[in-house]
Amino acid sequence: MSFPSVLKDLEEDFEREGRLTVFMLGATDVGKTFTAVRIANAFLQRSERVAVVDADIGQSDIGPPCCVGVGVLHREIRSLREVPPHSLFFVGSTSPNGCMRESILGTVAGVRKARELADVVIVDSTGWVFGNKAKMFKLLEIGAVEPSSVLAIEREEGELQHILSLLPEYTDARICILRASAEAKRKCKPLRRRLREEAFNRYFRNARNRRFDISLFERSGCLPVVEEGSLLGLFTASQEEEALGIGILRKIDEKRGSAVVLTPVEPRAVKRIKVGKVKLWRSKGRLREVFSVPFAPALPPRDYLR
Ligand SMILES: Nc1ncnc2c1ncn2[C@@H]1O[C@H](COP(=O)(O)OP(=O)(O)OP(=O)(O)O)[C@@H](O)[C@H]1O
Ligand SMILES: [Mg+2]
Repeated sequence: MSFPSVLKDLEEDFEREGRLTVFMLGATDVGKTFTAVRIANAFLQRSERVAVVDADIGQSDIGPPCCVGVGVLHREIRSLREVPPHSLFFVGSTSPNGCMRESILGTVAGVRKARELADVVIVDSTGWVFGNKAKMFKLLEIGAVEPSSVLAIEREEGELQHILSLLPEYTDARICILRASAEAKRKCKPLRRRLREEAFNRYFRNARNRRFDISLFERSGCLPVVEEGSLLGLFTASQEEEALGIGILRKIDEKRGSAVVLTPVEPRAVKRIKVGKVKLWRSKGRLREVFSVPFAPALPPRDYLR
């Protein structure tokens, strides 16, 4: 299919149903985000209320990595990064591999929020599609989101067949297949890591060290493994799913029963803290991911958290 014919189908669906949820499916760098922006702009031009759920927790454009970000379009955009985050849902990892449950729960919560805010909802997702585990994840993710359309972008013809052939068992959504543009540029792994770290650094630019009572840390049966550098999700008690933002654990002060957390979030509102799987350390004034660095030292360097 061509992009104009995909758009025509989506517009017809929207006219019939009065609402739309489009799920972007495809491997890395095939143009999922680029196409999501085009669809969002097309519906905005028709004066529809448009929201984007950025469920790509690794290469996040709306909000920081490790969170599903929801944003509403107020004007035409050239990049998803121009959409201000309205709501964040903490997943705690930069990949759904190893935290599929949290990823799907976060995405579903994000979609629920987006549907409150807009009639056209576009869900941008991770490019984790190859292999059995990724296949199961995508099928469960799409089944849980309940989109009206799945827009599958393939670089090679048939590369998503392992998912698309089973999709009707998980969803009634219309399936549209687009060929990736020859202009879709690939990002190498180090560039992806750098973009992620830049996103973390942007988020923490105005962060400060704040003190929180240790009792706010969520416990699931036993004490969580909380280590210095751990990424944290900060929540109010009332908003069960939506996160106020994220933080980084700097140190635990056992004597005072408190934890020092680097975060831009105002501490008074925080009533609950979840521990993520990512660790960040500061080197030469910049935050870096501990485990994504090849041959990362077993112990962080001496300027860790300074
Ligand atoms: N149809 C297109 N025309 C021109 N440039 C494109 C097109 N599709 C993608 N690109 C460019 O290719 C690059 C990768 O596209 P994009 O980021 O949308 O892919 P993605 O599938 O969202 O990747 P990721 O897996 O990282 O989320 C971007 O620089 C984007 O601007
Ligand atoms: Mg993308």
